[in-house]
Amino acid sequence: MNVGIAKETVAGERRVALVPEAIGRLRGKGVEVLVETGAGDGAAIPDGLYAEAGGTIVSRDELYAGADVVVKVQKPTPEEEQLFRSGQAVVGFLQPLIDPQLEARLAGKGVTAISLDAIPRTLSRAQTMDALSSQANVGGYKAAIIAAGAFGRYFPMLTTAAGTAKPANVLVLGIGVAGLQAIATARRLGAIVRAYDVRRETKEQAESLGAQFIVLKSVADATGEGGYARALTPEEQKAQQDELNGHIAAQDVVITTAQVPGRRPPLLVTADAVAGMRPGSIIVDMAASELGGNCELSRAGETITTGNGVTIIAPENLPASMPAGASLFYSRNMTALLFHFLKDGQMAYDFTDEITAGTVIAHGGEVVQPATRKLLEPAMAGGPGA
Ligand code: NAI
Repeated sequence: MNVGIAKETVAGERRVALVPEAIGRLRGKGVEVLVETGAGDGAAIPDGLYAEAGGTIVSRDELYAGADVVVKVQKPTPEEEQLFRSGQAVVGFLQPLIDPQLEARLAGKGVTAISLDAIPRTLSRAQTMDALSSQANVGGYKAAIIAAGAFGRYFPMLTTAAGTAKPANVLVLGIGVAGLQAIATARRLGAIVRAYDVRRETKEQAESLGAQFIVLKSVADATGEGGYARALTPEEQKAQQDELNGHIAAQDVVITTAQVPGRRPPLLVTADAVAGMRPGSIIVDMAASELGGNCELSRAGETITTGNGVTIIAPENLPASMPAGASLFYSRNMTALLFHFLKDGQMAYDFTDEITAGTVIAHGGEVVQPATRKLLEPAMAGGPGA
């Protein structure tokens, strides 16, 4: 069996799905590895290192023609989709809940679609495969570094011959995997860190990293399914925003990471809150996308400075901005998932297993994962949305 490492083609994507260290491990399981020429370029991994590790360097056409399993970071682009053939498998961040039609098209071609972002994250044996966490970790780290780089003063308290610099006040909104890493990084840089989340279990986690947890009277706890937050009601949202405004005005830096699965990110920093901030303050909105962000004024992929001197940075795809580090962890997650499927050197699909049932979205010509099937039902039945 062959695994093929594809070169990512989405603009700005510098990560690669497997790094050379994975090749020896896969070959140890009887799997040969094809590498698309230039696959590691964005992460500064030349073809030669893949070849030294035992990979065979091939062209794009040869890779898609020859690989039994194509491994990727981003979901296939329309051009890449054309290159897949029946009997092949693809593994990557396929985003089945955002783009179920892609899974239906892959199923139609007889391609087995396996999505790393559909790992059952709370299952302890799946933790080595949790690429959402490993990449969110990179994102949280980079968000704090970007904030420190953009801020016109020191993060730590400094006592020098020229006087004392006060430490920066940093607020982290949303304390999932990315938020926890943003807290840890800002603390290591010496800032005073406060943090807030609607899930009360995050209080202890934030405090253990040296942040002060902000308790709001308006929303006591909004823990939803699977350990994620639930969406707030419009009344709760308004009360939360009003209460947060007072805290935001006192900060030098606000880093936002709040997400609710399958929904537009919650609005936590209103235009009014930004207007109340001091000149020179920085907001890094990690949740910003074309759907909007946690800050009302964020523009995805852009940095803007408001009339009152607040800089709002809304970076897209932060993990791709640290491609070597992010690819190394992604590669370990990918290898762990491939090992889960490998039996006697072949991919084997046992749908009674939770990891297989969660991550295999399309197989045998059909969309098989229940959550994705449900999204496609109106279209399948020819009803509304077809
Ligand atoms: P995420 O990226 O979906 O959201 C980030 C954070 O935003 C979450 O902590 C969420 O509570 C918060 N948030 C949502 N709405 C908010 C609002 N209106 N105001 C303030 N904060 C708000 O989260 P991520 O990082 O993907 O992880 C979410 C959950 O998954 C966590 O409970 C985490 O512990 C859990 N998880 C569990 C794992 C395990 O048990 N092995 C592994 C990875 C994650």
